[in-house]
Amino acid sequence: MPLLEDSVGVEDLVLLEPLVQESLLKNLQIRYEKKEIYTYIGNVVISLNPYQQLPIYGPEFIAKYRDYTFYELKPHIYALANVAYQSLKDRDRDQCILITGESGAGKTEASKLVMSYVAAVCGKGEQVNSVKEQLLQSNPVLEAFGNAKTIRNNNSSRFGKYMDIEFDFKGSPLGGVITNYLLEKSRVVKQLKGERNFHIFYQLLAGADAQLLKALKLEQETSLYAYLNREMSRVDGMDDASNFRAVQSAMTVIGFSDEEIRQVLEVTALVLKLGNVELSDEFQANGIPASGIRDRQGVQEIGELVGLSSEELEKALCSRTVETAKEKVVTALNITQAQYARDALAKNIYSRLFNWIVYRINESIKVSTGEKKKVMGVLDIYGFEILQDNSFEQFVINYCNEKLQQVFIEMTLKEEQEEYKREGIPWTKVDYFDNSIICNLIEHNQRGILAMLDEECLRPGVVSDSTFLAKLNQLFSKHGHYESKVTQNAQRQYDHTMGLSCFRICHYAGKVMYNVTGFIDKNNDLLYRDLSQAMWKAQQPLLQSLFPEGDPKQVSLKRPPTAGSQFKNSVAILMKNLYSKNPNYIRCIKPNEHQQRGQFSSELVSSQALYLGLLENVRVRRAGYAYRQGYGPFLERYRMLSRSTWPHWKEGDRKGVEKIIEELSVASEEAAFGKTKIFIRSPKTLFYLEEQRRLRLQQLATLIQKIYRGWRCRTNYQLMRKSQILISSWFRGNMQKKRYGKIKASVLLIQAFVRGWKARKNYRKYFRSGAALTLAAFIYKSIAQKFLLGLRNSLPSTKVLDNKWPTAPYKYFNTANQELRQLFHQWKCKKFLDQLSPEQFEVLREKLFASELFKGKKASYPQSVPVQFRGDYIGLQGNPKLQKLKGGEEGPVLMAEIVKKVNRGNGKMSSRILLLTKGHVILTDAKKSQAKTVIGLDSVAGVSVTSLRDGLFCLHLTEMSSVGSKGDFLLISDHVVELLTKMYRAVLDATQRQLPVTVTEEFSVRFKERSVAVKVTQGPGGGRDSKLSCKKKGNHGLEVTVN
Ligand SMILES: Nc1ncnc2c1ncn2[C@@H]1O[C@H](COP(=O)(O)OP(=O)(O)O)[C@@H](O)[C@H]1O
Ligand SMILES: [Mg+2]
Repeated sequence: MPLLEDSVGVEDLVLLEPLVQESLLKNLQIRYEKKEIYTYIGNVVISLNPYQQLPIYGPEFIAKYRDYTFYELKPHIYALANVAYQSLKDRDRDQCILITGESGAGKTEASKLVMSYVAAVCGKGEQVNSVKEQLLQSNPVLEAFGNAKTIRNNNSSRFGKYMDIEFDFKGSPLGGVITNYLLEKSRVVKQLKGERNFHIFYQLLAGADAQLLKALKLEQETSLYAYLNREMSRVDGMDDASNFRAVQSAMTVIGFSDEEIRQVLEVTALVLKLGNVELSDEFQANGIPASGIRDRQGVQEIGELVGLSSEELEKALCSRTVETAKEKVVTALNITQAQYARDALAKNIYSRLFNWIVYRINESIKVSTGEKKKVMGVLDIYGFEILQDNSFEQFVINYCNEKLQQVFIEMTLKEEQEEYKREGIPWTKVDYFDNSIICNLIEHNQRGILAMLDEECLRPGVVSDSTFLAKLNQLFSKHGHYESKVTQNAQRQYDHTMGLSCFRICHYAGKVMYNVTGFIDKNNDLLYRDLSQAMWKAQQPLLQSLFPEGDPKQVSLKRPPTAGSQFKNSVAILMKNLYSKNPNYIRCIKPNEHQQRGQFSSELVSSQALYLGLLENVRVRRAGYAYRQGYGPFLERYRMLSRSTWPHWKEGDRKGVEKIIEELSVASEEAAFGKTKIFIRSPKTLFYLEEQRRLRLQQLATLIQKIYRGWRCRTNYQLMRKSQILISSWFRGNMQKKRYGKIKASVLLIQAFVRGWKARKNYRKYFRSGAALTLAAFIYKSIAQKFLLGLRNSLPSTKVLDNKWPTAPYKYFNTANQELRQLFHQWKCKKFLDQLSPEQFEVLREKLFASELFKGKKASYPQSVPVQFRGDYIGLQGNPKLQKLKGGEEGPVLMAEIVKKVNRGNGKMSSRILLLTKGHVILTDAKKSQAKTVIGLDSVAGVSVTSLRDGLFCLHLTEMSSVGSKGDFLLISDHVVELLTKMYRAVLDATQRQLPVTVTEEFSVRFKERSVAVKVTQGPGGGRDSKLSCKKKGNHGLEVTVN
């Protein structure tokens, strides 16, 4: 069922046709030659060691396998790691990855690939990265101390390793626990030809600088050390020096302190130096052989290195204290025993150091939090070993592999078939080899080989490897998987390969012959107490802590558990652990014995394929169903694929599952319904289901997201709305409150003003604020009073013409003062008028007219004012002669005086008497005393007068009058103002006409059909004397000068 068309052979052996051993081998070979080293049997990965770097690893491949499902890409360890990791994450099932195969088949490489894949795909972050780093860096450290070059593998793990990586619920690594199994410690003191000791020794010598070497008291040359094989100090393609630096930095990353690293290296150096302690044959005084140290220098240096007394060490190496209940007996060791003791010490120190390193790494990577963890276990344990000479180590190694095979059988073959039976699925049984009989042979608590071995070790009396063998022979004489010389002989078989001291076990992977020599010793794994006590006394804390039993206070006579039983127990724990997890298999196959690329040894692969049970695996797989799950979990996982089962289903799990399968129209042969589980035949169907689920989950996620987002927006909106309403209501309320407060304050203010104003108005009188006005008014009044009283007391004289008046004491009395003055003046005038007689009154009236006519016009006017108008200047009253001049004229004579008449022709003057009556002006020659000219006032048209002091005036007559024909009169009067005033009044009275009085210096005088232009000028005298001189100027001109 490979999805890739261009596949080489078949990628999954389940598809192999015909299914026989040959075709299986052929398929693997074709693929191997095309560098397709991985092949599936269902979900089991078969891996052939390519012995070359293939371009199928690294980040881009990891990324690819992470994104595709198991069958979509070429078979790969990454695919398996991905399935395991995803299943751990999604289905919450602890996983274990079981990597099996012979030494050099590629197990350790495979485990590293798994680890690197998981490290690359699991979570990120500072914390996670540091955990990952620690987990990954544990590898180089463990490899340096636990790996060695063997004939089969340049980097062979000489210990078994099981590592639990622990994850949190998100799938991020939290830490881990490493369990190590049975380090091949014999390698410390002895290696086969062509092999090496553990890497660390070579690395230390090659990589340490001179200073470190000196501190550790070492020389760089490996050949100087007895424990390092002199022929094989270098391995091709392995740089010990740079590896040493890598180990050191890895230790730092894991968390080893510098001090710890130093102590580890010191103990490592100690082992090397111990190998160089040469022992010599000696004899005690009584001739009993003893041993001694040949070269004290070495012991000395060891003493200095770890803080031990060299005598003590020497004693411990060469003698042994046997303690009985009563006494302590010290016996000397002969050279063989001493060498054995020395080597035992070296092996013990080294293996304990290795255990300590594992313990120390675990301290760093262990998970301290108590949170629920998911676990992925990776088991990389030494593979099945068949050597030339197989000893105790091979025995336990093979036992362990036997157990793993059992796990495989139990979990894949047996369990699977039994499950079909249980579930009532029609099934034709597939035969496979069940190895529990072999497991029993070895591990049975009472009758197993390991139990026998322990029994022999504990048994009092003479015990040896051969007594142990005899016991086995006796017990298993009839056992189908056990044989030895004795049992063969009993069955009359002849087998020249079988050694006398050997027994053979038919393992699932083939027959292996073990030599019992050393079994007892190795099982006892005893270290003389003298040695452990000596080590405990070391000042170096690490070394001391490696030998807790050396503490004299801790002395216990109880035997420590034997190596065999220890191993059995740890295997039992491991098995329990593995059974609790979901297994994922990587079965490593070694294509050739020579570590050669491209070489495919059919024979070798065939034998491995056989014992790995690959064919049976394929058969079961083909007949069976790739996947099964309880109805409950299945429904839970896929219920969203059907509308009927999502989101609620009430009719039972099985019905629900049937509904889903029906709706998805899965072919009927693809699914079978067991009693409690559904079985899916091909992975394709499962992947189809998974894909559908993935798509549906996306839809659902979108749906949930949609609803959630909607809900979030809605609640958010509602919250905002609520808040907005609340805020605006508060705001509005607050605004209104403020406004109300303002209005209220204003109203109160206005009220207060009004009230205040009212109150003040009402109470003004009571308040001092009015006092100022009252005072001011009072003061004003009193000042005015004072002023007026003062005025009364100091009134000026009542004479009308006295214009004196006191000035006001204050400016603001000015107007009043003026008015008062005016009043006073008027009052004076009135008083004055009141006391006047009518005649006097009349006089004043005349004066008033005079003022109207001449004031400001005529220069002689001011002189006339104080002079009384007498009217009669010629004494008319008492002179009847003159009275006659008046003629018959009724009424008084208003004015009588002597005037001068100017001759208009020559300017000569002649006196005339002038009388003014109510109707006439009468001019009479004074000498002739008879009337000469009478002029009716109605004939007078107007008067011209000069502005000067003179008395010249011209009487203009109307032309139509009788006198008019004589022309106008040019006269000079001494009282011209009085005369003209009286004339004006007489004209007014007589004719109701205002006589035009013209003040002028130039006027014309009519004179008999012609007129004379008179021009009056002021003479040099200024007219003071009012003397006139007239001069004729041409026919029509008369010039008058006033002197
Ligand atoms: N996938 C692989 N790619 C390249 N070389 C490999 C691969 N697997 C194994 N090898 C080679 O084979 C050698 C032995 O592998 P290893 O994993 O140490 O075997 P095992 O642990 O089974 O004894 C490695 O040192 C390496 O050179
Ligand atoms: Mg290995």
